Amino acid sequence: MMAGKLADKVAVVTGAGSGIGAAIVEALHREGAKVVAADISGQQEELAKRLGSDCVPVHADVTNGTDIQTMLHVATATFGRLDIVCNNAGIDGELVPTAGCSEENYDRVMAVNARGVFLGMRYAIPILVAGGGGTIVNTASIASTVAFPSMAPYCASKGAILMMTKTAAVEYAAAGVRINCICPGVTDTALVRQMPEKLIAGAMALTPMGRMGQPAEMADAAVFLASDDASFITGAAITVDGGYTAL
Ligand SMILES: NC(=O)c1ccc[n+]([C@@H]2O[C@H](COP(=O)([O-])OP(=O)(O)OC[C@H]3O[C@@H](n4cnc5c(N)ncnc54)[C@H](O)[C@@H]3O)[C@@H](O)[C@H]2O)c1
Repeated sequence: MMAGKLADKVAVVTGAGSGIGAAIVEALHREGAKVVAADISGQQEELAKRLGSDCVPVHADVTNGTDIQTMLHVATATFGRLDIVCNNAGIDGELVPTAGCSEENYDRVMAVNARGVFLGMRYAIPILVAGGGGTIVNTASIASTVAFPSMAPYCASKGAILMMTKTAAVEYAAAGVRINCICPGVTDTALVRQMPEKLIAGAMALTPMGRMGQPAEMADAAVFLASDDASFITGAAITVDGGYTAL
């Protein structure tokens, strides 16, 4: 087999059991990386079984700092190093206009999406720096920059991810850690399929390419950012949205 772009690299992916996270795991693995697949759903177990010994599943709740540290430790303990961290886990929360949004919904969405990415960077960066460098790819969203009615906490959390990505990128550029994010448009995953049909149709109408993105298309952008092909890219957001935010 030809060596991939990420041969000998060790990666950790959160929200790895489903959708975009699962596709990122598969793409990293295809390029030769060894991968720790973290999720709370249990679905990461089946994925890891399918991919074989170069993929290890971990149960980790990204809102919990101890879980995050354990997840990162599994990578260094199992594979001897850490090069790539994809902070991808996320939830959409209840779909409700701002004045009807419960405090609990706000806190939950911010905890998983914003705090989860914060903790992933907070605990990964020292390991990456100590290892001589590395790269982080966060999953933001087109909702980082444009509004989605009834999704205020989601949009707030994704805006937070974009700015945490830029801030940390600037802080750790000199230490050899590149930090970027992908901004997926409407993508064919469980997160979107459980939304009301009308909402999905509305989003499709605003997508110039007239279709949903596939998880593999988001994963290709993540692999690009994680690889040496992106060696001078840090603090960037790559939009993968079929033209949604260009309109
Ligand atoms: N699908 C889209 O249209 C779209 C668009 C833009 C951004 N995104 C983002 O992409 C990322 C992945 O979403 P997806 O569409 O693949 O959805 P998904 O629901 O298919 O996958 C999300 C995964 O995250 C896991 N997860 C949820 N809470 C967690 C927690 N506390 N700790 C660890 N894992 C947790 C879930 O179990 C699930 O496996 C999310 O950050 C989402 O906001 C999705």
